Amino acid sequence: MSNNTTTISPDKRPEWDSLRKHHKDISQLHLKTLFSEDKQRFEKFHTSLPGILFDYSKHNITDETLASLMALAKACELEKHRESLYSGQKINTTNNRAVLHTALRGSCSPELEVDGEKISGFVQSTLGQIEALSSKIRHNKEITDIINIGIGGSDLGPRMVYKALKPLADGPTVHYVSNIDGSTLYHRLKALKPQNTLFVIASKTFSTLETLTNAQTAKDWLLKDLSADALYDHLIAVTAAPQEAEKFGVRKDHILPMRDWIGGRYSLWSSIGVSIAISNGFKSFLELLRGAKEIDDHFLNAPLEKNIPVIMAMLGVWYRNFWDYSAQAILPYSHDLRDFPTYLQQLDMESNGKSVTKDGQMVSISTGPVIFGEAGTNAQHAFMQLLHQSQNIIPADFILVASPQHPLGDHHEKLLANALAQSKALMEGQDNIDEPYRFFSGNRPSSSLILDKLDPFHLGMLLALYEHKIFVQGVIWNINSFDQWGVELGKINAKTIIKAFENKEKNIKSDSSTTGLFDHLNQKFIES
Ligand code: F6P
Repeated sequence: MSNNTTTISPDKRPEWDSLRKHHKDISQLHLKTLFSEDKQRFEKFHTSLPGILFDYSKHNITDETLASLMALAKACELEKHRESLYSGQKINTTNNRAVLHTALRGSCSPELEVDGEKISGFVQSTLGQIEALSSKIRHNKEITDIINIGIGGSDLGPRMVYKALKPLADGPTVHYVSNIDGSTLYHRLKALKPQNTLFVIASKTFSTLETLTNAQTAKDWLLKDLSADALYDHLIAVTAAPQEAEKFGVRKDHILPMRDWIGGRYSLWSSIGVSIAISNGFKSFLELLRGAKEIDDHFLNAPLEKNIPVIMAMLGVWYRNFWDYSAQAILPYSHDLRDFPTYLQQLDMESNGKSVTKDGQMVSISTGPVIFGEAGTNAQHAFMQLLHQSQNIIPADFILVASPQHPLGDHHEKLLANALAQSKALMEGQDNIDEPYRFFSGNRPSSSLILDKLDPFHLGMLLALYEHKIFVQGVIWNINSFDQWGVELGKINAKTIIKAFENKEKNIKSDSSTTGLFDHLNQKFIES
């Protein structure tokens, strides 16, 4: 969809009005009643693919709701937009870029070209480079520890995958350093030796303040013990700006390429994921891609009514826009997936936290929800109280893994039982009690996604499901899910304030709060 195409806000469509009316009709229907009236509700409202089951029966929906949501998706020309995604059109209009993370897992035409480059050729040759470099590092017994220096999409995706697949890892230990807070790198380096450490500097732009600051400190640390020539074996870079990486001191054959059609938060499938290939082997990395491709194919080919990411997305639209629920909880009942909610925060909120339509108009409807979450059962002892009893209703996604990653006793049964118990309690509530503080309203919606196991293939499936869900919601809300201009203003302000700190300015010309805080910090910093 290009900028000069006039688009229609979804709330101007008759399908939106139908959903509004339908919401009024069913808003008093309790989920418990829906279940007691229809013993086949689970049968009706779940769908599965080999390796994954998606249950959406515990939602405030009827057959009519789903039909109306799918009618809205069709009216918003979801299928046409999906085609634009896969065929490499420049749907990221504010950056004039194609969006082709799906191509990284082989989900594009072998003939597809962007800006004169054959995409499949680039993908294949990059995979070859990832394989060669990761296997060289895995065979170098001197290297025991890898530090991936990157932030945002150059950190959260690989970090989350690494932790999820750690029980299967057989390569060097990988650490992820993202924050500019020197405390992270300082304490990490204290435990390591330069001779045994390799840094992956992961930055699409090779201009990100945090990453360059950490990378420079890392390089200085290496040079304290190693000669400039020996640096070669201890630095690799992943970037779309190879000349900058070379200037920094990374040798050409240690620089893995990126392209502008790989969005940061969608980049773990690219060479940004090299740390995964190092820790778990290149074959595992390919399995991750294969799992995602399975979902790419499903998203592309399954009818909308049976299409898991489409159903997930339209349920999100239903709650955000018709029930006015503004948050979404992500609850993986798998400690290995504990970083999944944080990863998803960037993926979802940086994609759909927007107020401007593709035409450059202010949106007239609510867009992306606040995403938050935590691994179960820890979440139960932290914030689940609010999900069960606050006036704010927060739809939840329970993510379960059928088989455990360990042989320990009855832990897994207890873990799974807790997940089922929570979604049941949210749905049913409890009302036959005397004390009001024991009252649970219930009627609180949730989905359950069950993976057969947590291996690279199934993880790839899970991640691609959420990527496509986010894409679908962007289409319905008529926003560009692939830019992130909202992060720029803070970066510009930071540059001015950093200069002021460096120049030891007495005060800065700013608003009184920023000036007052700066003066206070400057004073304390000098004193410390
Ligand atoms: O937070 C803004 C952002 O541009 C993200 O989208 C991106 O993932 C991150 O910064 C890191 O960018 P880079 O890989 O260019 O260092």
